Amino acid sequence: MKLYLYTLFFILIPGLAFAEDGSQLWLRYRPLSNNQMKALSTVITSVVSDEQCDSLAIDELQIAWKQLTGKELTVTPSVQEHSLIIGTNKSKLIQSFGFNKELQSLGGDGFLIRSAKYKDKDCFLLASEGKTGVLYAVFNLLKTIQTVYPFPSSMNVKEKPSYKIRILNHWDNIDGTIERGYAGHSLWKWEDLPSKLSARYKDYARANASIGINGTVLDNVNASPEILSTAYLIKVKALADVFRPYGIRVYLSVNFSSPTALGGLPTSDPLNKDVRRWWFVKAKEIYSLIPDFGGFLVKANSEGLPGPQDFGRTHADGANMLADALKPYHGIVMWRAFVYNSGMDDRAGQAYKEFLPLDGKFRSNVILQVKNGPIDFQPREPISALFGAMKQTPIMPEFQITQEYLGESNHLVYLAPLFKECLDSDTYSLGKGSTVAKVTDGSLFKNSLTAIAGVANIGEDANWCGHHFAQANWYAFGRLAWNHELSSEQIADEWIKLTFNDKKEFVEPVKEMMLDSREAAVNYMMPLGLHHLFAWGHHYGPEPWCAVEGARPDWLPSYYHKADSIGIGFDRTLSGSASVGQYNSPLREEYNALDRCPERFLLWFHHVPWEYKMKNGRSLWAELCYTYDKGVKQVREYQKVWDRMEPYVDAQRFHEVQSRLKIQAKDAVWWKDACLLYFQTFSRRPIPYDIERPVNELDDLKKIKLNLKHHN
Ligand code: GCU
Repeated sequence: MKLYLYTLFFILIPGLAFAEDGSQLWLRYRPLSNNQMKALSTVITSVVSDEQCDSLAIDELQIAWKQLTGKELTVTPSVQEHSLIIGTNKSKLIQSFGFNKELQSLGGDGFLIRSAKYKDKDCFLLASEGKTGVLYAVFNLLKTIQTVYPFPSSMNVKEKPSYKIRILNHWDNIDGTIERGYAGHSLWKWEDLPSKLSARYKDYARANASIGINGTVLDNVNASPEILSTAYLIKVKALADVFRPYGIRVYLSVNFSSPTALGGLPTSDPLNKDVRRWWFVKAKEIYSLIPDFGGFLVKANSEGLPGPQDFGRTHADGANMLADALKPYHGIVMWRAFVYNSGMDDRAGQAYKEFLPLDGKFRSNVILQVKNGPIDFQPREPISALFGAMKQTPIMPEFQITQEYLGESNHLVYLAPLFKECLDSDTYSLGKGSTVAKVTDGSLFKNSLTAIAGVANIGEDANWCGHHFAQANWYAFGRLAWNHELSSEQIADEWIKLTFNDKKEFVEPVKEMMLDSREAAVNYMMPLGLHHLFAWGHHYGPEPWCAVEGARPDWLPSYYHKADSIGIGFDRTLSGSASVGQYNSPLREEYNALDRCPERFLLWFHHVPWEYKMKNGRSLWAELCYTYDKGVKQVREYQKVWDRMEPYVDAQRFHEVQSRLKIQAKDAVWWKDACLLYFQTFSRRPIPYDIERPVNELDDLKKIKLNLKHHN
């Protein structure tokens, strides 16, 4: 028996060691090719650091080195030929190079990687003002080693992040579920904390540090007051302690009525002095446990949550009260602008109307968190008009990494193009070139508080994100938060090479598929500016016909598509809801004019007749049909591409991606058939005859009820 177990052990261990379940993300450190190794070993042979404090960075480097080259990277006490010199600006050795001013200007997260001479010896310098910057530099170097061929014989890298705060928003509930989470339960094991720490906490922090993420909001924006109880704060402290060495600060979403719900006060009115005192005392308690606590994220007076308006106060009153409590400790308030009331007012215009009058009324440690589009993370939206409109209030973009409206963790949809589309959009706030990136990164309005948030897609699944390719969206968010000028292509290229392999035959087709995939999703779900056609109760499948008695109209698809016998689309022009007027010129005029409105936003801004002639000469109806069909064809093509990739991918990941693509292909047909057959009941026109015919009956599609437990 003993022998049997022993044998079994040795059979299983290699399998486990090489299990490609995606758990290593983009930090796989596969062995380099001989040529690559040769190039590297001619420029770096040892490492030297005269500081203890960088041990984490050195550890990462040594672990990676061993895996990449099979050799140890020796740490030497003094500089030798081809040494890699690592350290912060405090180190005497680093100072001797004379980069002090330059390093200071890059801040604690920025870094330099330079080829340099030290007493006639060729060496590589890797330095930052802060410890986190040194760690980032190490990850950057490791990325270069794995993705740039041949490894450059000299380097001159200077990096400074686009945003100061690069933060994930977890929508994790304290009962372990995740709102809009599609990768299993929450990573945070609240019941085990603070005494038992999962090994994945460190892995999480390391993965985030490797892409420059430096903040995390642990709990759902629909926050439970209990998160601020002492019992939970002690658990939060335990996580903060694990994350700190990786440069990650912890933040919390808070419930505005915590003083009442948790503190037992009769009111949570932000101008009430007992309420203010409650928050001041709470802040003191938090900071006594977590001295570098980042601050609060607040969803208030939104989707039924409490807020200052419950007491006749404004969003500014509410945010400022919290900001005052956090100010002594340098904490910040991220106040969300995601507000809309049920009523007949156009939902897309409401946040702007509510927040614009408050511009300039917020404390300096308040930043307004604005979703990329005016509705809600749809496959495609024009930018929120708040970007560039609030000139005296720092604004941070909020993206959704989790694919609530993009096929959850079943669909392969690479989101960098969506993030970039928003960041690169011109707001015309201070004339041409006032992109969302520039109005939020501090370069246009010179605000010192800058941030960007992504709603995390991370859960306890072995591969973290459910779909292997969903890891690319976490990666892309981090990389763009670090440098919003990176292209979607460059990010995909890096990610594929780090996560899978660097064979051209693999990288190129997979990259092409990724870059195309967001547009494909728009095509098979909601093309030409259509939005929110989702089924009641979840945001996965189509239900453009959905009618629920007594439901909020703005939670029903017909509110958005407005299909009738004449045409389809939401009239937001100046003669309709007039929300188009919230954009600066020339956007306003462009979107307002039917013939000038970009076709990707056509049905977002206009109610358009079925026979309207599109730029390519087709009728709107025909164009809708062809676009849905195109989306289906694109996904079918991805299946072919992926199947051809089998020789280049480990079996587990190959099969898992393959089977999700099958689901995606079926879903794409579902979307196409549901939308076309339903809209056809209004258009009363045939589906062009050269298009694949629907394979479903509308009546059957109407019967589909997915048992997904999400609220609308
Ligand atoms: C969407 C999402 C909700 C979430 C909300 C928010 O509406 O469906 O689950 O709470 O956004 O961002 O606050």
